[in-house]
Amino acid sequence: MADEIALLDRDRIATAGGFWRVTVFRETESTNDIVLRAAEGGEPEGFAVFAESQTRGRGQFGRRWDSSPGRGLWFSFLLRPRWPIAQLAQMTPLIAVAAARALAAHTNLAVRIKPPNDIHCSGRKLAGILSEARTGREAFVAVGIGINVNHSTRDFPLELQASATSLAIETGRSWEREAVATAMLSEVARVYDPGGAPGAEIREAYAALSHAPVCDNFPP
Ligand code: BTN
Repeated sequence: MADEIALLDRDRIATAGGFWRVTVFRETESTNDIVLRAAEGGEPEGFAVFAESQTRGRGQFGRRWDSSPGRGLWFSFLLRPRWPIAQLAQMTPLIAVAAARALAAHTNLAVRIKPPNDIHCSGRKLAGILSEARTGREAFVAVGIGINVNHSTRDFPLELQASATSLAIETGRSWEREAVATAMLSEVARVYDPGGAPGAEIREAYAALSHAPVCDNFPP
């Protein structure tokens, strides 16, 4: 029999001093699509959507993203950076730094960035980031993050079992998803500056966390 699923509790996800307005859906197609639609309707930045499961979760290059219920964190948020358009490509590395820092600080795991948009632990994928930008009179970015939190290996589709991991697999214990979500949103709110693209501190952190030369991996 499948384990009973405890729904993510919106009231236990902290909002970083009110920056985030959090909504939780039991099921949706893709949280990125909800955020994109809201953005087109004029929603201010800070709108954050979590879903217990996604029927059409997507990853980079239109790949399917497995979003089984109850185990992971599947969420997207809206940012409206007033950055030069050419610098919007820096959103994914910025969020990768925030995600790696938040997960490492929260769990004490040795977490790495696998450029450009993956977070790895023990050489396996722990989380992925999908940033979708729209440019026009005012640019906006829907940032989607999927984190494998309480998965056991058999919770992943067979074809992912060798390459995917979770916080629970790596630490041998389960994690309260609301606390992980809070750690993530707090760190994003801390590093994100709507008025300016990431500076040297973030570039250096990206290089250090990915073992990659800054110039090769951080977009100009
Ligand atoms: C990747 O590694 O290819 C990126 C995966 C991004 C998955 C997240 S889950 C929440 C949000 N909604 C989606 O449809 N995708 C992102």
